[in-house]
This record gives sequence, structure tokens and C-alpha cells, in this order.
Amino acid sequence: MSAATKLHWFFPVVAVVLLALAPCARGDERIVVKLPRADREQMQNDMVRFMEQQHALIDALAVRDMTRAENVARQARPPLARIRALASGKPLPPEGRLPQIKGDEALFLRMRKNLPPPYLNMLLGMRETWAKIESDAARGGSPEQALKHMSALQGFCVTCHKLYRIEPVADR
Ligand code: HEC
Repeated sequence: MSAATKLHWFFPVVAVVLLALAPCARGDERIVVKLPRADREQMQNDMVRFMEQQHALIDALAVRDMTRAENVARQARPPLARIRALASGKPLPPEGRLPQIKGDEALFLRMRKNLPPPYLNMLLGMRETWAKIESDAARGGSPEQALKHMSALQGFCVTCHKLYRIEPVADR
């Protein structure tokens, strides 16, 4: 067998051994958040939408189209009242009555119970950054300024993904 043929076998074998060992070496040190299966799916759908929105924004900024960037940011920024109330940690009104909170009240209460405060704060930070991108663009801000905001926006994605993982549970 020639040296070249030996190497041909050697590298894939080493790669397989390294891949097998990699999970032991690294481990998964992220914080586990338990969520009911359906809530996790809803969150995964939201996440894919975040990606689409970011893509739409960078697409607009690449051609310096600030009107389009503003429209993208407006669509990406949901009413902030709900996420602010989620992240505030303040006691809720009695009997589950949540004035000003539009949308699914039961989901709101589960999210507040199941998601840790730093997680909710990062979601809030992300939403507020979208609001900044929108208002800056509306005031004639430059693509460079919007890109700086976008970098902050992605900072939230990166930090949260490094810190947390979701474990689906039957109910919670
Ligand atoms: C506050 C925390 C948090 C923030 C902020 C966050 N994510 Fe996530 N994201 C998660 C977690 C946790 C998962 C893993 C969900 C799972 O697999 O159950 C996830 C999963 C995803 C996924 C995979 C979805 C799937 O179908 O499996 C995508 C894509 C994603 N995030 C994109 C983003 C983008 C883009 C941003 C920023 C604009 C972002 N996320 C911001 C927590 C966050």
C-alpha cells in the first residue's frame, strides 16, 4: 500500500473518532429552559421569522433603501407593551385580567412563568432595538447607523443562543 493510500484511509478515521469524542469534550453547558411542546414550537416559528426579518433588513441596507428598511423594521416590531409586561416581573393584575395585553393571555402567563427573567430581558432588548431601527430610519438615519443597531440586534441572538436551550415537556 502506498503512503498516499494509507493517508486516504487515515483522515476519515481520525475525523470519525474526533466527531465521536467532541460531545464529551465540549459538553452542553447551556441553561435548560423547560417549555410545553406547543410553546416551544411557537417559539421556533418566531425564531425563523426573526431570521427572515433580519435577512429582509440586510437586503434593504445593502442597497441603501431606507424606506424599505423602515418598513421591515415596522413589521418586525410588535407592540412593545406585551413584551415589556412579560419582562417587567411586576405582579400581575388579579384574576388573570391583563388590560393592554393583546393576544393569547394563557400563553402570556405560561411564558412569564416558564422563561427566566434574563431570557425575557433579552427578548425585550431585541424588540426595542427593532423599534430604534424603525424610528432612526423614519428620521432619515443612514444605513451605517442602521447597521450598528443591527449588530446590537444580533448580539441578542448570539448571547441568548449561547446561554439557553429549550427542553420540551408534556405540560407546564
Ligand atoms: C432570549 C433568547 C433568544 C433570542 C434573543 C433569540 N433566540 Fe433564537 N432561539 C432561542 C432558543 C432557546 C432556541 C432553541 C429553541 C429550541 O430548539 O427549542 C432558538 C432557536 C432559534 C432558531 C432555530 C429555530 C428552529 O426551527 O429550530 C433560529 C433560526 C433562531 N433561533 C434565530 C434567532 C435570531 C435570528 C435571533 C435574533 C434576531 C434570535 N433567534 C434571538 C433563543 C433566542
